[in-house]
Amino acid sequence: MQYLVGSAAEENESGGKPVGALETVTTTIRWMADPLATVESILGEAFAAATGLMISEIDPTIRPSDRADAQANGAMALSKRVGRNPRDIAVDVVADLDGNSMATFEVAGPGFINITFRNAFLAEALQQMAVDDHLGVRPASLAETVVIDYSAPNVAKEMHVGHLRTTVIGDALVRILEFLGHKVIRENHIGDWGTPFGMLIEFLIDNGADASTVVDNDDPNAFYRAARAKFDSDHDFKTRSRERVVKLQRFDPETIALWQQLVDTSTTYFNTIYRSLGILLTDDDLMGESRYQPLLGEVVQRLTTLGLLEKSDGADVVFVPGFTNREGEPLPLIVQKGDGGFNYAASDLASVIDRRERLNATLLLYIVGAPQALHFSMVFKVAEMAGWLVPPARAVHAMFGSVLGPDRKAFKTRSGENVKLQALIDESIQRGTDKAREKSPDLPPDELERVGRMIGLGSIKYADLSTDRIKDYVFDWDRMLTFEGNTAPYLQYAHARINSIFRRGGFDRTTVASVVPTLVAPEEHSLALRLLAFDTVVHDTADRYSPHRLCTYLFELAQEFSSFYEACPVLKASTPELVQSRLALCSIAASALAQGLALLGIDVPERM
Ligand code: ARG
Repeated sequence: MQYLVGSAAEENESGGKPVGALETVTTTIRWMADPLATVESILGEAFAAATGLMISEIDPTIRPSDRADAQANGAMALSKRVGRNPRDIAVDVVADLDGNSMATFEVAGPGFINITFRNAFLAEALQQMAVDDHLGVRPASLAETVVIDYSAPNVAKEMHVGHLRTTVIGDALVRILEFLGHKVIRENHIGDWGTPFGMLIEFLIDNGADASTVVDNDDPNAFYRAARAKFDSDHDFKTRSRERVVKLQRFDPETIALWQQLVDTSTTYFNTIYRSLGILLTDDDLMGESRYQPLLGEVVQRLTTLGLLEKSDGADVVFVPGFTNREGEPLPLIVQKGDGGFNYAASDLASVIDRRERLNATLLLYIVGAPQALHFSMVFKVAEMAGWLVPPARAVHAMFGSVLGPDRKAFKTRSGENVKLQALIDESIQRGTDKAREKSPDLPPDELERVGRMIGLGSIKYADLSTDRIKDYVFDWDRMLTFEGNTAPYLQYAHARINSIFRRGGFDRTTVASVVPTLVAPEEHSLALRLLAFDTVVHDTADRYSPHRLCTYLFELAQEFSSFYEACPVLKASTPELVQSRLALCSIAASALAQGLALLGIDVPERM
């Protein structure tokens, strides 16, 4: 793999750093793909030289500017510290950076430094981006083992739109973290254990003991509802159900076999959803609550040994400092109930032990809705108190908001029922196909179907991912499927349109990869800068577990490309060299759009 990281020698040429500092030079300044990030570190060095301060004491943060590509106002903050006029500091910094091959620097006003990148530098960096199989995205400086806990629907129940969110966000984060070189372990923590299974198994027995005929995967909730109704009305059934739970907890083979049938039927249903959505999860990733049962005794034992477990109303609980209920009383995390049963918190505590000690993960990511925030902060706190989570190992609840209907209430069907995911997926493909037909009526039927699927699924996923995950969002077909705005179809179309330039001109994308573009127009300069920010954006997205950052970038990139395309003729450029140069820009833009969408789990059609 080739990454855009320069050698120390290169840094010396451009930055003029003393050779004695080789060690630090290689680690502090890297020739990063994003010029803004690179120039920040170069400025840091220059500020240090001008003020005699340590580089670690300087914050060279640069911000956008309408006068130049960026502006640094570090001199203002430093002036008090070193007792010098900010403008004098800025003058020294600019003198130090005179002749820099990356950018020109200019003092402005009372001590701002305006930064303008040299076109030759941007062009060179772009060409390296074009030939890099990671498009200039650096690997994470520390590759970690990351467990991502996502999707996690419940056995014998329908997947709902909340499960759609965790599934789509989790899938994107898996792809992004893997792209950055992390070892990612996917875990589908399905709800496959607990007291309702006594009732479900008894009901299965009463109806012929064959889940494949009794459970209707088109309406998984129907089975659950019927079992529940019987449980509530039939005393004998209730008693049998309770006895069945005990048998299940003892791993009675006959009971386990029946339970397994229910699990298998449900996972078949989950897999149908995953396959139609294009989600990476498979049966190998199943790691439901049941899998942690053998570890629960261990959890209790360890907490007891540590003196953390206390009796409260008959239950075994941990009082977690800093957590109180509405009345201001200490709030306990219940680990084991009075009747000996374990609950949700117990298996999540076990999940921390398992992920740390068996899988050696240092980052434990939980993609679960915001309503479970209290649960996870208490579980993580207990795990820390118990010494199972010691930095740098950490657990993060990457929480998300709700999917709302047009009335801004929980998203339901018109008759008030839960929306069936399969129906939603099918509808998206139907609507996507209509859109594809509208845009490109001449596509052959099989291609129309493929493109329609990409548009439909892309729309659902993108609508979900492009909203800050913390926020709720309104599920709105018209908005997510429009070709104008921050949507999947808009980006997919932008990509296809670039491809069509190549088709019309009879050029092949691969032939321009080695072309170092000549940047002439201001639109080319800004497009180049935007493209080179890809690296920073992917890292930023990963660092915050926030796919919407990548979405925003892709949207802005597509807009930037449009401005370029309006201002700069490509196939009709004035010279053959300029045609090549602009085709090279087009090709990198197409690659960034396709790669960005791929990281979100969204496919792009070659044409539409
Ligand atoms: N099955 C749960 C639900 O449907 C989500 C589980 C999330 N993961 C976890 N480790 N608790 O709400």
